[in-house]
Amino acid sequence: MRTIDWADGRVIAIDQTLLPDELTTLRIDTVDQLVHAIRRLAIRGAPALGVAGALGVALAACGGGDVRAQAARLRSARPTAVNLAWGVDRVLARLDEGLDAVVAEAVHVLEDDVRRNRALGLRGARWLVDRLGGPVNVQTHCNAGALACVEWGTALGVVRALRDAEALGHVYVDETRPLLQGSRLTAWELARMGVGHTVVVDSAGPTVIARGLADAVVVGADRIAANGDVVNKIGTYPLALAAARAGIPFLVAAPESTIDPATPDGAGVEIEVRDPAEVVGDRPTAALNYAFDVTPADLVTAIITDERTISGQPLG
Ligand code: MRU
Repeated sequence: MRTIDWADGRVIAIDQTLLPDELTTLRIDTVDQLVHAIRRLAIRGAPALGVAGALGVALAACGGGDVRAQAARLRSARPTAVNLAWGVDRVLARLDEGLDAVVAEAVHVLEDDVRRNRALGLRGARWLVDRLGGPVNVQTHCNAGALACVEWGTALGVVRALRDAEALGHVYVDETRPLLQGSRLTAWELARMGVGHTVVVDSAGPTVIARGLADAVVVGADRIAANGDVVNKIGTYPLALAAARAGIPFLVAAPESTIDPATPDGAGVEIEVRDPAEVVGDRPTAALNYAFDVTPADLVTAIITDERTISGQPLG
């Protein structure tokens, strides 16, 4: 089953807020509904947001009205993952060619996501096996799996490819406070894949690495700046520090659409700050709910995309 799809002129998407308890799909007919689904993280993960942006422009075009105004609202539904704006802009560029061209481009973005993630998964697995042999024990963070894409996954795409090559050991999954994308979504996906895994609290991730339980850290990304700084779910940066200290690879697996050449470095990326209630509920306590952090490029061993492996130099 696909995380997000296009059928009969509407968007169909798994409601990720209900997993792992319920596997329910949403039927989305309007840009308003899509923006709401993105804001509440029913649809989430950078590549899936790119596809949602693309399909959202198709929805707007099918519905008539001011397509450019609807696209602008969609583009800013969440600020950090560059894929959302990328998906919107890809399809918007075809607007003058008519409805068929718009829908065809949106469906192309959707189908292409699958192909690109499979390619980067294979490349990442090969990179790890070439350096570490097998079995490779992996530490991951958040959810960069099929649920964050159309299917397959980025970081979990690498894990899938390792499993298929019989080169996978155990997977350590950070629970990913406060919305638990690790313990709810990644653990659910790994269980369905039949992969041995263990959830740890986020603050235990560096200890898992320091104690030698993980041979490599593999994560996704929401935006990669021109200098190679990586923006990903809050809690990624401590894993990179721990990996550098332990001397194990810190690998970032992401499609080319996650690279943002227009942003020179991580300091220029808007970091989403979400509702404090996600952290402290209705208690009257101040909470600064950063959703993402920046891992400086010098802590990243390699970035694996669908087209290339980038290590140790500024991105072109
Ligand atoms: O807030 P989320 O759940 O959308 O954050 C998702 C992440 O940080 C993922 O690691 C990232 O989008 C890469 S998904 C392939």
